[in-house]
Amino acid sequence: MTQQNPTTTVDAVVVLAAGQGTRMRSRTPKVLHQLGGRSMLGHVLAAAEPLGAGQTVVVVGSGRESVAEHLAQVAPHARPVVQEEQRGSGHAAAVALDALGPVAGAVLIVNGDAPLLRGQTLAALVGAHTDAGNVLTVLTAEVDDPTGLGRIVRDDAGAVRAIVEEKDADPAQRAVREVNAGVYVGDAAAVREALTRVGSGNQQGEQYLTDVLGLLVADGARVGGHRAEDAEDTLGCNDQRELAARRRTMNDRVLDDLMRAGVVVVDPRTTWVDVTAEVTGEAVLHPGTQLLGATAVAAGAVVGPDSTLLDCEVGEGASVVRSHCQLAVIGAAATVGPFSYLRPGTRLARGAKVGAFVETKNVEVGEDSKVPHLSYVGDATIGRGSNVGAATVFVNYDGVAKHHTTVGDHVRIGSDTMLVAPVTVGDGAYTAAGSVITKDVPPGSMAVARATQRNVGGWVGRRRPGTPAAEAAAAAERAAAARDAGGEQSSVTAPGADQ
Ligand code: UD1
Ligand code: CA
Repeated sequence: MTQQNPTTTVDAVVVLAAGQGTRMRSRTPKVLHQLGGRSMLGHVLAAAEPLGAGQTVVVVGSGRESVAEHLAQVAPHARPVVQEEQRGSGHAAAVALDALGPVAGAVLIVNGDAPLLRGQTLAALVGAHTDAGNVLTVLTAEVDDPTGLGRIVRDDAGAVRAIVEEKDADPAQRAVREVNAGVYVGDAAAVREALTRVGSGNQQGEQYLTDVLGLLVADGARVGGHRAEDAEDTLGCNDQRELAARRRTMNDRVLDDLMRAGVVVVDPRTTWVDVTAEVTGEAVLHPGTQLLGATAVAAGAVVGPDSTLLDCEVGEGASVVRSHCQLAVIGAAATVGPFSYLRPGTRLARGAKVGAFVETKNVEVGEDSKVPHLSYVGDATIGRGSNVGAATVFVNYDGVAKHHTTVGDHVRIGSDTMLVAPVTVGDGAYTAAGSVITKDVPPGSMAVARATQRNVGGWVGRRRPGTPAAEAAAAAERAAAARDAGGEQSSVTAPGADQ
């Protein structure tokens, strides 16, 4: 009976990530560089996740502390294993296999610098390996420019015989365009045994993992090469230019999926969506939009132009224009911007509005309430149907601690009100423009907390004589006097009599 559904699981996963990545020219360990919302290492682990391995180890070396710390955050199931000295990928694999302990079946070994690998590509490799009954199968790719990569050497019958690094290759081997993707699935015991026989007699003086293949071929074991359906998946990432190119490719993939699902992406060139973000069909993303982290945008929402959302939720039919938002919940039909800054803990209920040049933090804005212009709203609860006048500040910080402000339903906060927390403005209350509110305002009251105006008559004429202001004031006085005189006359003259 032929097997219809090849097994696409492995018992263990090994990620090689101890290399320094000198060509990145960065203090950050290579595998921690970010693209599309995850580290390179995070992408590789995510691709391997569906293989259902019982154990996952990551070989760390260069920058081991930060890589281990990162793993604890993003993939606590993956165990870091230290390779003290970077003696080559073969040595790294041996260190990992020793750390694994007994593995009954197959192990997937993968370079940590291949962020475009997808689960389906790894599953196809494992499926091919299982189907062929191989001891070792290497993922290969046909590329236009094989520079720097290991070449796949096949015999006349097309069987894989060896992997030869470019530096060790003869001219005929160099001409080969089928390359080693740096992903291998093999019988753990056989690979472990072969690794003990790998030497370092090559141009780089390193123990090459790739030599395992030739050794197993010489043993007469079944070895194969599986060509990746999409060569793009196998692309490594060795310098900043390649990182930027991989980031672009990843973004293109994300946007293609979104557009296929009905999302309107007005300008794919300037729209960046992390693999971790979600956008529901019929949302519109205008140019210059970045949807980062765990951001979720619901159907019919409009984001952009020029907006960055990190870990935000945007409800149905909401809109965000030229704004920067982090850890904010923007309710259905709510509107934000232009030019606003929503900081963590901002929650806008249905139909709420945060208009232009407003900063918010840790605030709940109730249904249909509005903060239309030029305000700071921090540590507050605002009820429904309320309006916060222009240039209002929620004065939440006394220099030592933060305090909360509560604004009720249908409140009218006058322009330029300072709400000095802790303070409560009751339902239906008003505050007078320019007030400094330090005491609670009962429901329905008008709070006036500002100096009474005093006009010092004629001050400009006396104290600023000869200035344009004094001249303008004098002219206004003359005009008023003339109007008064004319007004007296018109009161005794019939309409049109002066014509
Ligand atoms: C490797 C392959 C090459 C393949 C290419 C695909 C070898 C010898 N060559 O070349 O055939 O075409 O990947 O991108 O494997 N590492 C360690 N410890 C070490 C050395 C390396 O953990 O001591 C890790 C690196 O972090 C990296 C991986 O092993 O993730 C591969 O090493 P790298 O030096 O990048 O090998 P390449 O020259 O890219
Ligand atoms: Ca590499």
